[in-house]
This record gives sequence, structure tokens and C-alpha cells, in this order.
Amino acid sequence: MSNTSRTIAVVGTGVIGASWAAYYLSRGFTVVAADPAGGAEDRLRTWVEQFWPALETLGLEEGASRENLRFTASIADAVRDAEFVQENGPERLEIKRSMLAEIESTLAPTALVATSSSGLLISDVQEGMKHPERMVLGHPFNPPHLIPLVEVLGGRQTSAESVDRALAFYAEIGKKPIRINKEVPGHVANRLQVALWREAFHLVQTGVASVTDIDTAISYGPGLRWALLGPFLNLHASGGDGGITHVLEHIGPAQREWARTLGEYPETDDYIAVMAEGVEEELAGHDWDETLRQRDEVLLQLLAAKKAKQQLP
Ligand SMILES: NC(=O)c1ccc[n+]([C@@H]2O[C@H](COP(=O)([O-])OP(=O)(O)OC[C@H]3O[C@@H](n4cnc5c(N)ncnc54)[C@H](O)[C@@H]3O)[C@@H](O)[C@H]2O)c1
Repeated sequence: MSNTSRTIAVVGTGVIGASWAAYYLSRGFTVVAADPAGGAEDRLRTWVEQFWPALETLGLEEGASRENLRFTASIADAVRDAEFVQENGPERLEIKRSMLAEIESTLAPTALVATSSSGLLISDVQEGMKHPERMVLGHPFNPPHLIPLVEVLGGRQTSAESVDRALAFYAEIGKKPIRINKEVPGHVANRLQVALWREAFHLVQTGVASVTDIDTAISYGPGLRWALLGPFLNLHASGGDGGITHVLEHIGPAQREWARTLGEYPETDDYIAVMAEGVEEELAGHDWDETLRQRDEVLLQLLAAKKAKQQLP
């Protein structure tokens, strides 16, 4: 059955909201979007046009159409008929709270509200809500219309049922949701990225390798495998018949020693110019726009290839 009779509200239509709106449209939903900024509607419709060919390549749900997008400047109006609200306003606690108050003014009694917030604690965001039990984190990776991951987490006042419903909803619409059990700054995926960047900055600053060579090390090395199985299953694969237990017994002690020598995140901003210079060198002779276009093209191929192989987790 088509999703057209089901409505998703997208509140805040900047970089993340516009991408979410396009994705929900591609899944066949009716999307009502709200953003008070001047020119927001034109900007949103232009972005949806731009994103649509990629979404067509990934495959549209029955009934999916850009025509199913309605725009309003009023959050209360946008939310009225929605079963699910994706909030993507500015990353400031007081703004999120005032947006949530407007959302709750017309929110249907069973509707869920998910915030895309990258860094705020969900327990803080839901403070003062009338129905905090229906508020969850639904943190996407940019751009949400292409990257499947969504991090789901409840705050202190969120019900376990709402977290389960949000996980089921995102899975139903083709996303790869993960459950986060505890609130920590940066959620999970960004913490993992920061752990890697911390060491990458350290290796450059201490002259171990150049920015270019570190990019190559990841994008032509472990990054290729991580896109397919993730760090734990790759460890398991490295252990042969003995799997992860064998590999950790075998190389764990050495890794523990290496870990003791890892760098700290730079405490001052001197490192920024060093990294920027390295990026400039790496990009010399390359057309950056073309590089990004090719990245997105290959990403679509990779996503399609992964989708075709149902065994990959
Ligand atoms: N940019 C990223 O890479 C990224 C990734 C994941 C999550 N996020 C999160 O997504 C959220 C949005 O980030 P963004 O990068 O799209 O920011 P953005 O600045 O591009 O968009 C914010 C939008 O909110 C609108 N807005 C402001 N006040 C509003 C109100 N009262 N009601 C409705 N809309 C209002 C603004 O007009 C703007 O269009 C943030 O919480 C951010 O942490 C961002």
C-alpha cells in the first residue's frame, strides 16, 4: 500500500531538513515542511529537485512524488496531520525548546517527534515538554537522503516504546537505525570519527605521514572494508577460523601497546593551518566540484551494490 496518505512533518528545512524532506518524499509520504526563514520554500524546492535524480537511482517507493510536498511557515500547521515529526532547527537548546512547544500545540496524540540534533543531550531538549515520552533522537548522517545511518536514543523522560517505534519506523523506510543506550556527547558515529581524526591530526603534526598519505591509507585501505562490514566484523574476519577471539588474543597485546602511544586531540588551533595546507597540496590539480560529483556517483553505486547483497549486515 502506498504511503501517500501518511504525513511526515519536517520542521526546519536547512541543509539537513531539506535532505530529510526529499528522502521522505522518495519513500512515498506526504511531507509538510515548515521554516520561517525568508526564501525557505524556494530553497527547499530547489534542493529537492537537485536531490531527486539520486533518489530515483536508489529507487522510489510507490506513489513517491515531489508533488506531495507542502510548505508552510507555521510549525503548528505543519505538524497537525503528521504521524512523525523530524525536527531540524538550529542547534541551540532554547530554539529547539521553543520549536517543540509549537510542535506540541497541534501534535497528534500518538505522533512521535525526532530531533536531528548532532550534539545536544536529548534529556535537555525534552525538558519542559508536555509529552516528553514521545521525543527521541533521530540523528542522521549528512546527507540524510543518501546515508542510511540514523542514531536513535531516548532521553530520561522518553518511553521505551517510543524508542522502539522510532527504530521500527526508520527501518521500515529503508534507513539503518542503531539504538544508543546511553546519552554521551557526540552520540556514537561522530565519536568514532573523532577518535580517528584525533590520531590523524597527531600523525600529521608529528611528521609520521602527510595529509595525502593518511587520506589514501583510509580510502584505499580499511575504509573500503569498513563500508562493508564495520570494525568488529573485520576483526572477526582477520582471525581466520578463530575469529575475533583469536585475533584479539594474538594482536591485542601489541595493539594495547600502540594505544598507549596514540595522540591527544590538539588543545590549541595551530593544527588547523597545517591540515588546511595538507588538503590544499592534496587537491592541487584536481577539480574539487568534480571530485565531489564523482564521490556521490560512486556512493550511489556502492549503496545499490550493498542493497543487492542482502547478507551484508
Ligand atoms: N549539518 C550537518 O552535517 C548535520 C548532520 C546531522 C545533524 N545535524 C543537525 O541537524 C539540525 C539542523 O542543522 P543544519 O545543518 O540543517 O542547520 P541549518 O542552519 O542549515 O538549518 C536550520 C534551519 O532551521 C530554520 N529555523 C530557524 N528557526 C526556526 C524555527 N523557529 N522553526 C523552524 N525552522 C527554523 C532555519 O531557517 C534553517 O533553515 C541541527 O540540530 C544539527 O545539529 C546537522
